[in-house]
Parts: sequence; structure tokens; C-alpha cells
Amino acid sequence: MAFAGEENGPKHSSDLADDDSLDSAPRSEPVVFLPVEDLDGVGPALKSKLNNAGIITVTDLAAKSPSEVADAIGSDLQRAADICECARQKLVELRYLGENFVSATEIYKRRKAIDRISTGSTNLDDLLAGGIETQAVTEFYGEFGSGKTQICHTLCVMVQCPMDLGGLSGKALYLDTENTFRPERIIGIAKSRGLDSARILDGIIVAKAYNSSHQELILGELGQQVRNNGIRLMLVDSAVAHYRAEFLGRGTLSERQQKLNKFMHTLVRAAEIYNIAVVVTNQVQASPDAYFGDPTRATGGHVVAHTSTYRVYIRKTGKNRIARIVDSPYHAEREAVFILNERGVDDPPDERSPRR
Ligand code: GTP
Ligand code: MG
Repeated sequence: MAFAGEENGPKHSSDLADDDSLDSAPRSEPVVFLPVEDLDGVGPALKSKLNNAGIITVTDLAAKSPSEVADAIGSDLQRAADICECARQKLVELRYLGENFVSATEIYKRRKAIDRISTGSTNLDDLLAGGIETQAVTEFYGEFGSGKTQICHTLCVMVQCPMDLGGLSGKALYLDTENTFRPERIIGIAKSRGLDSARILDGIIVAKAYNSSHQELILGELGQQVRNNGIRLMLVDSAVAHYRAEFLGRGTLSERQQKLNKFMHTLVRAAEIYNIAVVVTNQVQASPDAYFGDPTRATGGHVVAHTSTYRVYIRKTGKNRIARIVDSPYHAEREAVFILNERGVDDPPDERSPRR
């Protein structure tokens, strides 16, 4: 990502550093919207093929895989890969993307510039080192009623708050695969938090996916949504359900995993290229071979587990919910307690700090 306006320190990522010398790290820059025809070698015919496939900007192009671009323009994979690389180079030139080789200090500065969205619970934010990160995919998994959909609803509200209230003043795109998005719930959460519920509702775009192909199609249009509507958060509730329902039996397992793999990788690329936070939910299934601990594991197998940047396991204990970060490259392995109430996600009453 590019880092302009170096005089502005990050407002919402104080958790990362105790070294003040790096505090001049810049904030992340909005997405670059350069039309594809600005790339060398993209003439009118190629532009029209790309545009027909919804690839309007250089950023859209960089967010696609060579095989998707090959399909869009009817070329071989090598030519498509060359075009994708050309788009990536352009974004490096514009300092929107980093060079192939950068120092760890530079990466550290960039990580400080990553924006975060509050979950609505200070405990859960602390567990996540400040909230849900942009440029990453965060997966929440847990059994039915554990609160995954409630987390998604609360985040739709929180992302629209200004930075000093834990948001990004941005909008949310909710990809609903289970028909569980409820505007009434959004209104309730917004009102309980003293926010203008009509404005908050207006800031959420809902896409209902009827099957896995439709889900993939909607993801393909994310670039336009980011460009036209200022999306900073994409939610996929749930990522795996359609794939599980459609690909039944062992015979279809490899096809299912292949498709799910592609979907998850596209999400990861989109999070980074469009500088948005992506949250996916996932169910659990009984795992009879687990002799110790909780005998459940996330669905979607290694594909989802290895692709999500951060994974949070949620379980119910009475009225409380317990979240645990699983296999994170940088978070401590610990747990946080939160509750679900009229404010959506919240801290237990006895642990509440001054309210947002
Ligand atoms: P599945 O999608 O079925 O796997 O479950 P989920 O993890 O998405 O669960 P969900 O987020 O839908 O959580 C449902 C739970 O949230 C309910 O059992 C309630 O405990 C809680 N909940 C939902 N709405 C409200 C509300 O308005 N007030 C309160 N206090 N709790 C609520
Ligand atoms: Mg749900």
C-alpha cells in the first residue's frame, strides 16, 4: 500500500509499537483508481474486454488472478500473467504496492499504517490487538448461536463510526449466504449506540448469494463497490455454507476444496489490494479424532484454515461468549470474554470501560 501524507501518524494502531522513532509512520492511502487503458499495451480492444469483465481499473486488474484475466480476455495464461504483472508494477511505481524486496523496518512501518475496526467489545478488540485489521481476512468460527452473525452485524455499524470511535468512516458490504442479515438488528444496534440508524442502514450494501457460483460472481464485483461506495469492510456470512451444501460426498470433495480455495485466495488478494478488512464466518463440525480439548473444528478444512490471516474460535459458556485466537503469527494465544446484547457485541457488565 502507498503511504502518503507522512506527517499524519496512525490514529488507530497504537498497539504495535513501543519504539517512538517509528511513530512518524503514515496512514494508509485510499485505493488508486487508474483506468486500465493507462497501462502500456492496453489498447481499445483489450480495454473493452477487460471492462466487460468488470475490470475497470489497474487495481481491479491487480486483484485478479492470471487465470481469471485469461478467461476475461480469451488469451493464454502467459499473456494474462504478463498483463497482471504490468498492473502490479504500475501500482509499485505509484507506491501503492511495495517492491518485491523490502526491509523489515519498512514492513513494520506499513503494518503501523494498517487501519482497525472495533468489534464493539474492548475485550475482543484487545484480543485482536486493536480490532479487525484491514488488508487481512479474519475468520470467526464457532457452533450455531455462538454469535458469528451478531459480530458481522455489529461490525457493519462500527466501521461507519469515525476513527476516534473505533471505525473507519467507511461502508460495509455484507455477502449473505444464509439469509440471516436483519436490518432491524442493525437499527437496534445503531440506536443502542446512540447513532443515526437511518444513516447506518444506508451505509450497508447487502448481496444475497443464492449458490456458490453466485457468491463468486458477487466477489468479482467487489472492485466496483469499493470504487463507487467507499467500502472498507466486506463480510461473508458464511463463506463455506454453499460449498458444503452443493458438493456432497467424497467424490466431490476435491472440486469443492479447489473452488473454496480460489474463493478464499481472491478474498485475501482483494483485502490487500483494495485496502479493506474482510471478515468471514465459518461453522464447526464434530471431530471424532480429537481426544483432548474441544472436539470441534472449523469446516472448510485446511483451505480456509490456511488462507485466513487470523482465526478466532468462539464458544458459548452460559450467557458469555469466549473468543480465542487460533494459530496467529502475531497474537498471543489467549482468550477474551464478551457478550451479546442490544448493542450487538459488548463487554460483560462488570468489565465495561467508558462506553463508545
Ligand atoms: P449460526 O449462523 O447458526 O451458525 O450461528 P451464529 O454464530 O451466527 O449465531 P448468531 O450470531 O445468530 O447468534 C445468535 C444469538 O445471538 C442468539 O442465540 C442470542 O443469544 C444472541 N442475540 C441475537 N439477537 C440478540 C438481541 O437482540 N439481544 C440479545 N441480548 N441477544 C441477541
Ligand atoms: Mg449465523
